[in-house]
Amino acid sequence: MATKAPAGQLTEEHEMIRQAAREFAQNEIAPIAAEFDESGEFPLETIRKMGQMGFMGIEIPEQYGGAGMDTMAYVLALEEISKADASHGTIMSVNNSLYCYAIYKFGTEEQKQQFMRPVAAGEKIGAYSLTEPMSGSDAATMRSRAVRDGDDYLITGRKSWVTSGPVADYILLFTITDPDKGAKGITAFLVEADKPGFTRGKKEPKLGIRASATSEILFEDYRVPASQRLGEEGEGFKIAMTVLDAGRIGIATQALGIAEAAYEASLQFVREREAFGQKIGEFQGTSFKIADMKTRIEAARGLIHSAAWAKQASKDSGGRYTLEASMAKLFASETAMFCAHHAVQIHGGMGYSKELPVERYFRDAKITEIYEGTSEIQRLVISRMETGLR
Ligand code: CAA
Repeated sequence: MATKAPAGQLTEEHEMIRQAAREFAQNEIAPIAAEFDESGEFPLETIRKMGQMGFMGIEIPEQYGGAGMDTMAYVLALEEISKADASHGTIMSVNNSLYCYAIYKFGTEEQKQQFMRPVAAGEKIGAYSLTEPMSGSDAATMRSRAVRDGDDYLITGRKSWVTSGPVADYILLFTITDPDKGAKGITAFLVEADKPGFTRGKKEPKLGIRASATSEILFEDYRVPASQRLGEEGEGFKIAMTVLDAGRIGIATQALGIAEAAYEASLQFVREREAFGQKIGEFQGTSFKIADMKTRIEAARGLIHSAAWAKQASKDSGGRYTLEASMAKLFASETAMFCAHHAVQIHGGMGYSKELPVERYFRDAKITEIYEGTSEIQRLVISRMETGLR
């Protein structure tokens, strides 16, 4: 059932999903997070369970396999999952906002049934593939190509940094159909993995979010029917950017979860640990860190909730929430780094040790300032929108 609440107000349904996500995250994810971080194994079992709980397609209507809830429900649940483990947070965020939401917004009925329904239900895994080895922040300069061949297209090229690339069943792929048109020559396709012409590259060894699998994917004369094109030819860049606005709210929320985990560990530590005859939280050098962490966390939450309400409103108005999403992503990801950095310092040697999760929060936080648009790109988007200059 759809949740309808005026901006700023949480419903009983919101509290219920937050509680369900918190219990699941603390009981089923937190205990295995360190082990999966160490091994780098993809946590398929917990992801499947999250699918059964409706967490893999929260905003997708129930008739399409989702939970039929609103954006606020999505961010409340994602925050809890990310607080327990940022890797699960990444997988959930990409599946929900970069993959399912794209098809829900731009797909045909057949595409929704075939490519969105099983992913929203958590039975299959979806990925989003924009980046290439020579095209990251400057996303429109990609080189991969799709050439029309009768009722099909033949795709050739190399895509990189694909979240869930090693395990994805379906991929939302952006590639060039008209190289003379720049950003307006990019087209989106829904592609199935493991068909002739498709290869997965090696899994990237990463600093953080190590249980979230990332890889290149390669296409060589990969045949895709025109019925699997998402939108019209040349609409791909706009689709990619529209969907990234949604994705950036997800990453902001993941960052909030990491920041909170780092903060709560620090809070407990400064209340218990003694040095020089007093609790370390009684030293101003430590207590001011706690104050700064808490203030930034609440500010990040405010920006994320504003962005979530703006996205929800856009579903009726069709308007954009680019500014809100970029501000939330920028501030929350820098808050995650700030809090994780202070948490390690507060814990001293224990913060540097793998015996506590604090060093993992530090490693996991960094990616939130990089993927789905670096902090520099968020500043560029925000300032362009405010000044009207380029
Ligand atoms: N919504 C809708 N349309 C948008 C838009 C948005 N948010 N942003 C731009 N557009 C449209 C513009 O209106 C413009 O259309 P018109 O020409 O019709 O006016 C068109 O797109 C081109 O826009 P720009 O001229 O602004 O494009 P640009 O080349 O200057 O690039 C950019 C803008 C903001 C820098 C963009 O390239 C960008 O966001 N780069 C970062 C890419 C990124 O986030 N990559 C991460 C990929 S995902 C990932 O990390 C891995 C993963 O698996 C999670």
